[in-house]
Amino acid sequence: MPTKARKKSKAAAKKSAKKSAKKSAKKIVSLRAKRPAAAVAKNGLPRASTRPWGGAGRALDGVRILDFTHVQSGPTCTQLLAYMGADVIKVERPGVGDVTRGQLRDVKGADSLYFTMLNGSKRSITIDSKHPKGKEILDRLVQQCDVLVENFAPGALDRMGLTFEHINKLNPRMIVASVKGFGPGPYEDCKVYENVAQCAGGAASTTGFRDGPPLVSGAQIGDSGTGLHLALGIVAALYQRVRTGRGQRVLCAMQDGVLNLARVKLRDQQRLKHGPLTEYSQYGEGVPFGAATPRAGNDSGGGQPGWILKCKGWENDPDAYVYFITQAPVWGAICDLICKPQWKTDPDYATPPARLPRLRSIFDTIEQWTMTMTKFEVMEICNKHDVPVGPILSMKEIAEEKSLRSTGTVVEVDHPTRGKYLTVGNPIKLSDSPPDVRRSPLLGEHTDEILRKVLAYSDQDIAAIKSSGAITAPDKPAKAEAA
Ligand code: COA
Repeated sequence: MPTKARKKSKAAAKKSAKKSAKKSAKKIVSLRAKRPAAAVAKNGLPRASTRPWGGAGRALDGVRILDFTHVQSGPTCTQLLAYMGADVIKVERPGVGDVTRGQLRDVKGADSLYFTMLNGSKRSITIDSKHPKGKEILDRLVQQCDVLVENFAPGALDRMGLTFEHINKLNPRMIVASVKGFGPGPYEDCKVYENVAQCAGGAASTTGFRDGPPLVSGAQIGDSGTGLHLALGIVAALYQRVRTGRGQRVLCAMQDGVLNLARVKLRDQQRLKHGPLTEYSQYGEGVPFGAATPRAGNDSGGGQPGWILKCKGWENDPDAYVYFITQAPVWGAICDLICKPQWKTDPDYATPPARLPRLRSIFDTIEQWTMTMTKFEVMEICNKHDVPVGPILSMKEIAEEKSLRSTGTVVEVDHPTRGKYLTVGNPIKLSDSPPDVRRSPLLGEHTDEILRKVLAYSDQDIAAIKSSGAITAPDKPAKAEAA
């Protein structure tokens, strides 16, 4: 092509691209303007809805989340926000996706339960965040979303070019929320997983039995616990934005989140200066305390002594146990139940301080009684007398528990490749915001839909994006880690 003609055609292409971008931008603005506006009363405040409870949408309707999370801590947070109505757009690496899609796989070829139970009610788009076109799409998403949530290793988001300054320039209203292992300090660059956080946050050193090693908990207090903290931070930042009109950074370090949940142990650390921790069974056993809060076995963390006791069938059923609390106001009722009415007036047993040195033998006696019944029978009898007890429920029992199904805490959803599975619904119940619990998305299931409807790309733009390689896996896709 002669130079003049080439120049002319280049200029025409540039003009058409500019026109298309302008058109798309206009379309984006109009898409955003369609979001529901609250009806405003004369005093400028939203009018109270007259719709029936639960009929006025969901708490986070209209909030759009750019979900850059993976593994567990971040996904827990965004799943909760999705349950409450936020439009959560999960960005995943083309051909690979969140690494958990392939971890602990139980059904060949299907997304694992690890993934599906943490990514319900979200949409999935695949974008290579290091591809120039991918970066362009991400910038557009930043302009369209209210919150960016991420839990990459320290520095990874910046390396993608998504620094806070860049994001804030594109969208000053955007809230950028992160989970990291540690806050600023000597460990800030470390990668962190659940059990590292449980150890670094003080939970492991205070869990387990005195004569055994530190123990981690089955509850994912490092990952899911921090995800919960982050969700609260995001909602608070959204609320503050109503006043200030601007976003901010929200950071939750897993070490901090675990410590927040283990705060009673920091309480006990300080109490140690003033004498032994009398509610710990080691006090009654005459074992001296050391310099740090010890492991307390199954002692209750509060002022009411408690312990786990065997029930009928314990020889064959590892979960035939009950947690029993000897709360002072119902001590008389306990004495009657276990046929020790004389303990009500015996000075060695009648008061909480008198009982402290002999808690172990008291619980042994109560156990002789609980072993004659199932854990559910113990619960029924004790609750009639306001004696607090908790049956040790297995995951099998929880999965089958009808009341948890009817409250929506355990939900069965259907998935196109793995079939029906159970997931944990929203444990936070809002009376005017019915939960939205849906299956997790397939990898890139909503890529087209998001490009078109959220980002207002035209068919032509989408075809160009597809051929650029920004949203599709490279020829030899890296395999998701299979457990
Ligand atoms: N396109 C292209 N690259 C992508 C991508 C996408 N869509 N999504 C992620 N990546 C890249 C990142 O940019 C990063 O690349 P870089 O290292 O070159 O910057 C890379 O994938 C890996 O990300 P990273 O977060 O380092 O993953 P990891 O598997 O090495 O580490 C954790 C995993 C969980 C240890 C780490 O992310 C971490 O410490 N997170 C913070 C704490 C946390 O949440 N831990 C709990 C997890 S449940």
